[in-house]
Amino acid sequence: MAMAELNLKPTKTHLQSSQHSFLSRTLLRHGHCAFYPLHRTTQHARISCSVAPNQVQVPAVQTQDPKTKPDCYGVFCLTYDLKAEEETRSWKKLINIAVSGAAGMISNHLLFKLASGEVFGPNQPIALKLLGSERSIQALEGVAMELEDSLFPLLREVSISIDPYEVFQDAEWALLIGAKPRGPGVERAALLDINGQIFAEQGKALNAVASRNVKVIVVGNPCNTNALICLKNAPNIPARNFHALTRLDENRAKCQLALKAGVFYDKVSNVTIWGNHSTTQVPDFLNARIDGLPVKDVIKDHKWLEEEFTETVQKRGGVLIKKWGRSSAASTSVSIVDAIRSLVTPTPEGDWFSTGVYTNGNPYGIAEDIVFSMPCRSKGDGDYELVKDVIFDDYLRQRIAKTEAELLAEKKCVAHLTGEGIAVCDLPGDTMLPGEV
Ligand code: LMR
Repeated sequence: MAMAELNLKPTKTHLQSSQHSFLSRTLLRHGHCAFYPLHRTTQHARISCSVAPNQVQVPAVQTQDPKTKPDCYGVFCLTYDLKAEEETRSWKKLINIAVSGAAGMISNHLLFKLASGEVFGPNQPIALKLLGSERSIQALEGVAMELEDSLFPLLREVSISIDPYEVFQDAEWALLIGAKPRGPGVERAALLDINGQIFAEQGKALNAVASRNVKVIVVGNPCNTNALICLKNAPNIPARNFHALTRLDENRAKCQLALKAGVFYDKVSNVTIWGNHSTTQVPDFLNARIDGLPVKDVIKDHKWLEEEFTETVQKRGGVLIKKWGRSSAASTSVSIVDAIRSLVTPTPEGDWFSTGVYTNGNPYGIAEDIVFSMPCRSKGDGDYELVKDVIFDDYLRQRIAKTEAELLAEKKCVAHLTGEGIAVCDLPGDTMLPGEV
């Protein structure tokens, strides 16, 4: 067992640096060590860190200048002896997960799932790096405190900041949830510009400081074009590592098909969402299966499939906004978990999942250089391949062409953010969901 020890003594310099990092407060829990900077309760803290043999993780505390360290708080000032427990566990190397919009509703569900181990597994320690805004920094402290109170054994570090360059440092996963919700009267083109700027900035920050193999899942809407902006601003990260979340749409489609067929939703497979996360998205019932059979053989009401089913899935988010007065949050966080799990576990034989990815090299004839939801499979290594054995008919082709046209138009609206010249915004129709009240 490796052991690192250091003594912290708050000094004037230290306090000044604490002020400097007012928005960069860190809660660290590395096995046997912890720091919490928000409350200075001790004058002289002794902090010990221990890690299991062969762990590559080097506690950040060893490499930082003690003068820039926050001091500890309450239970985190104590030296733990969890030796017996550690000897029975083999922890994997710590991974850094950055989450933007971390004080929001989606994150409030998601962070606790991540910390519990249900996403990356029971032997995978994680560091959560939370990005908020100046407005949300108090709430972000509340989130960190609740994480602290939850005593998650796998949660080794929590840090909060409003600076993406700090938060994305060495991130292996970046879950980009934070975006301005569409308020009443906000034009879609305006939202593309407002949120696009956020994602351009975050793309630059990822490019500068994240792991070169970071996997990025963009949730903030309009997520396909935000993902495109983000990847264009991060040329040193493979474009295929960027995803726009359409897994929620896939889950919604599965639920509707199950309902109509009178089966539980675990019987529904091979559901693709094609295109944009907007009301032009195409839930594909041609390739989907129920109990292994083509959906059209099980649900004979093809008019329902083409009209009611399709529209229900396309507008489900909007209906939820009307009910809640805000966007879906719990089901979105579940679908983020599903999306991550689909990349870190092998896809079941014969099945696939939907995710919005960069279209270059796609086998379906979809325009290149956009982010488009397509069917994918993964070996569980974080990467994916596009599924080749899918069929198309005229209906599916026409619908795909419509959502493709929309994404190409959105791309033109954000040319100023992708480094491709002057934006010309002529959107075919307003297909976004109605927005929060
Ligand atoms: C959803 O599909 O529920 C959300 O993306 C809707 C929204 O616009 O926030």
